[in-house]
Amino acid sequence: MCGIFGVIGTREVSSILIDGLRKLEYRGYDSAGLATIQNSKNDQFGKLSVRKSKGKLINLSNSIKKKPIQGHLGIGHTRWATHGKPNEINAHPHVDFTGQIAAVQNGIIENHRDLSKSLQSKGIKFISETDTEIIPHLIGLEIENLLEKGQDANGQTLLKAVQKVLCLLEGIYAIAVIWSKAPDALVVARRQAPLVLGFGEGEFFCASDTPALVGFTRTFLPLKDHEIALLTPLGIELYDADGMRQHRAPSLLKGTELFADKRNFRHFMLKEIYEQPETAQLWIDRYLPMDLSSENSFPLPIDKSLVEKIEQIQILACGTSRHAGMVGAYLLEQFAGVPTKVYFASEFRYAPPPVSPNTLTIGISQSGETADTLAALRMEKERRNSFKDANFSFHQLGITNRLDSSLARELENVIDIGSGIEIGVAATKTFLGQMLSFYGLTLLFASNNHKRSSQEILALSNDLRLVPQQLTDLIKKHDALSKQIAHLFAETKDVIFLGRGINYPIALEGALKLKEISYIHAQGYPAGELKHGPIALLDQHVPVISIAVPGVVYEKVLSNSQEAKARDARLIGVAPCGPESEMFDELFSIPKVSEWVSPLLTVVPLQLFSYHIAAHKGLDVDQPRNLAKSVTVE
Ligand code: F6R
Repeated sequence: MCGIFGVIGTREVSSILIDGLRKLEYRGYDSAGLATIQNSKNDQFGKLSVRKSKGKLINLSNSIKKKPIQGHLGIGHTRWATHGKPNEINAHPHVDFTGQIAAVQNGIIENHRDLSKSLQSKGIKFISETDTEIIPHLIGLEIENLLEKGQDANGQTLLKAVQKVLCLLEGIYAIAVIWSKAPDALVVARRQAPLVLGFGEGEFFCASDTPALVGFTRTFLPLKDHEIALLTPLGIELYDADGMRQHRAPSLLKGTELFADKRNFRHFMLKEIYEQPETAQLWIDRYLPMDLSSENSFPLPIDKSLVEKIEQIQILACGTSRHAGMVGAYLLEQFAGVPTKVYFASEFRYAPPPVSPNTLTIGISQSGETADTLAALRMEKERRNSFKDANFSFHQLGITNRLDSSLARELENVIDIGSGIEIGVAATKTFLGQMLSFYGLTLLFASNNHKRSSQEILALSNDLRLVPQQLTDLIKKHDALSKQIAHLFAETKDVIFLGRGINYPIALEGALKLKEISYIHAQGYPAGELKHGPIALLDQHVPVISIAVPGVVYEKVLSNSQEAKARDARLIGVAPCGPESEMFDELFSIPKVSEWVSPLLTVVPLQLFSYHIAAHKGLDVDQPRNLAKSVTVE
């Protein structure tokens, strides 16, 4: 979480920093700050200015407009609080005890307590509650040492000091540092948290994510783990952890996919819900060719020999991505006959199952930067690498929306869900893209292991081809209906979502969407579990949303829904229209489709329902409180 943006060049940087941070605000938005260094005519050293504001970036932007700060070099930060409340003091940048060094950090410094104790024993006073404040203080001390040893006050000295301090820091982080006595230097480093460099015309940038560079430059270079870089107005020097100079060619940002535009929609989330038919169509065009008999049917970027070897699959993910994984696991097991387990990435790390052979580990992350998922995948890789057996095969596959992410860089096989940039913090179209990837994998495995007849494979493929149009119709219909009924739920405190089988993960996803953007407590349950406890909660104040799709669990879900209705709960159905659906007080009708493809449709009314309740309550739908789009802390 948190966004870092930095620039060094020949122009005034404060408005550039604000523009860059605006595109990173999805990473955290509880406070923001800037630090710049202004060259002084009378002095070889510069003047450090810092400005911070609590709350959204707009507060900082207004403060800078009212009273600008000057400088051709600056760093900025948008925060998602980990250590210390979101207030102005804890906002970054943090400044050292000499008042000359400013630093921003994204991540967590795990040993900050020990380091801070030792700094305090040297008489250094802390003003914030953050883990970050130790960084400028440590650099300040290191610079004092270097100056005493006769080093000049310049960028190389700042670089050396940062290099020394990095050896003391434990955790996952990215940092950017400036020093008023080196007004031509910006030093940045990363350890597992993302950081990318941008090459402009006479100016150079660093940012937590590539979209922040768009508008300034299209030439970028992601920093590798443990690398450190010195940015000056003349160029960028890149070093590895041992201080060896590195030379790598930058890449060019392609396409317009990184430009985010709300078009005529009130919120990005609504626009992204509306983009789902396009996500589905693009996915079909790319991964589901008409000729399924060809060698290249299901052209997913996975080696066919790999598919033949795999005996089981494990899926690691968090939040919404995990729900997509649960739909995927159902498909892979029930349709393609491949034993599949889904894990919370954050739990897998500490309680992994015994290592078993011929396993495919799938990491799903729309951002590709989720620290829990990356850590679990790295741990799994290490664990298996240390298990030496020639007959033993294991593979990792990533499913992501960001080909420029750490996940995509680190894994050997990657499926690009290609949903286009998603700005709303609540995932919608990327969830659809993730589920679709599992349909592709399921078809791939099923057609290789012959667990399904070619007719069954063809039927599922044909059903998938109908999804874009079905989505278009559903979105139109349920946008209007959700808007119409949203006011009925404005005062609601608790909602229960029920689903069974392949739609149980959709009940979880519906509850998660409602919680995160409307702040209404919601819980998803397998419909059969209702009677084992949650039913005690039900009365006329607790609505129940029931996903009932004809298929193996239809009758059962309808009975469970009746049980809720008998307890006076307001009953909302996500089901096809028919005599059975008359029991529902409200009906989000869906077309009569095969149960296999139903999750791609049943999720849509739930997204719109949550969206309209939150919008009706006047909440910040795209940036809900306490959340961030990219969760880069464990
Ligand atoms: C919910 C949501 C989160 C993410 C989770 C994992 O709308 O967006 O639950 O799904 O933080 O994020 P990624 O997919 O980036 O790994």
